[in-house]
Amino acid sequence: DLATYDIDAGRGFVPGTDPVPALAPRYRPWERLAADLGALLMTGRLRAAVAALPELPTEHLDGPGERERAFLLLSCLGNAYMWAEPVAAERFPAALAVPWCRLAEELGRPPILAHSSIVLTNWRRLVPDEPLSLTNIDTAVTFLGGVDEKWFYLATVGVELAGAPALPLLAAAQHAVAADDADRLTAALRALEPVLAATTRAFLDVERWCDPHVFYHRVRPFLAGWPAPGVVYEGVWDHPRVFTGASAAQSSLIQAFDAGLGVPHPHERTGGFLRGMRAHMPLPHRRFLADLEAGPSVHDYAARRPDRPQLTDAYNACVRAVSELRARHLGLTGRYIGRFERSGAAKGTGGTDFVRLLVQAREETRARELGGP
Ligand code: ALA
Repeated sequence: DLATYDIDAGRGFVPGTDPVPALAPRYRPWERLAADLGALLMTGRLRAAVAALPELPTEHLDGPGERERAFLLLSCLGNAYMWAEPVAAERFPAALAVPWCRLAEELGRPPILAHSSIVLTNWRRLVPDEPLSLTNIDTAVTFLGGVDEKWFYLATVGVELAGAPALPLLAAAQHAVAADDADRLTAALRALEPVLAATTRAFLDVERWCDPHVFYHRVRPFLAGWPAPGVVYEGVWDHPRVFTGASAAQSSLIQAFDAGLGVPHPHERTGGFLRGMRAHMPLPHRRFLADLEAGPSVHDYAARRPDRPQLTDAYNACVRAVSELRARHLGLTGRYIGRFERSGAAKGTGGTDFVRLLVQAREETRARELGGP
């Protein structure tokens, strides 16, 4: 039952309960700063405003929804504080760091903005009684704001929604392997392939409202991780800490495709990075990936059944669809990042040489196709 992994039948890794729209009045200082982020950044007031925050306790946050809202607000304030001025911050004031790190510990995720906050819980429905979709959605928090930034996050919600039907199919595929049922496996993989293709289309839809120039200059700087030697979280750690910035690798959906289809990433550049990014995922989603990886290998089963050419075809179609997603991701980074970079090996907000990472990941995916020439 996928509900035990906090996976919603319709929305997948996007929460089945809409995000809490605002915290109780005692947390108004956080809400007000987050609502004013664009103006505070534009006028050069952001760091002073964060430094003047009262230190609010987290004990009065009621339930997981309010904790996620608070973590989203504090993570956005923290990333904004870091990147508000040309010189990166060296210390976070205690009024920010203490509640932020307490929530990070409770949620089991590092104190830095990640996909789990800026995408999964950063939305509201425009018309509350109509279903969640890309025609009924807005962001909750932005840095500088505007449709380009909003759409970068919302199109990513769209990717999660488009891929949601894959999750029960990946589980069904493994059950079919466990039951030695080649017909059921073939059916699950045949149903999966169009979902993977729809996920890629949703991914490319980012281009509809997110202008590359705005993205490169006004959105992605706030998503980056901490530069060496790191930053001191006052009142929490005396020594500077480094955490990795937001990355598509923090999406449990994309990692679920690999785990469910039996596509390993043996290189440190890919596998090591992808494993590290799991620390930023909600704990139940991380558990889902671990259980998929511990399950029977769909790849190995399909490889053992050359007597079932339809199974081979269905499996290969899925692997090709995931390679295609990676090839398209690579193309998108050229249009959104590469063309603006002066230096050779551009770094992604996740801190990697993303061209080599994505090429390697695509090759590792292709290598799983069965019965090559
Ligand atoms: N990971 C994306 C980038 O590097 C957001 O720009």
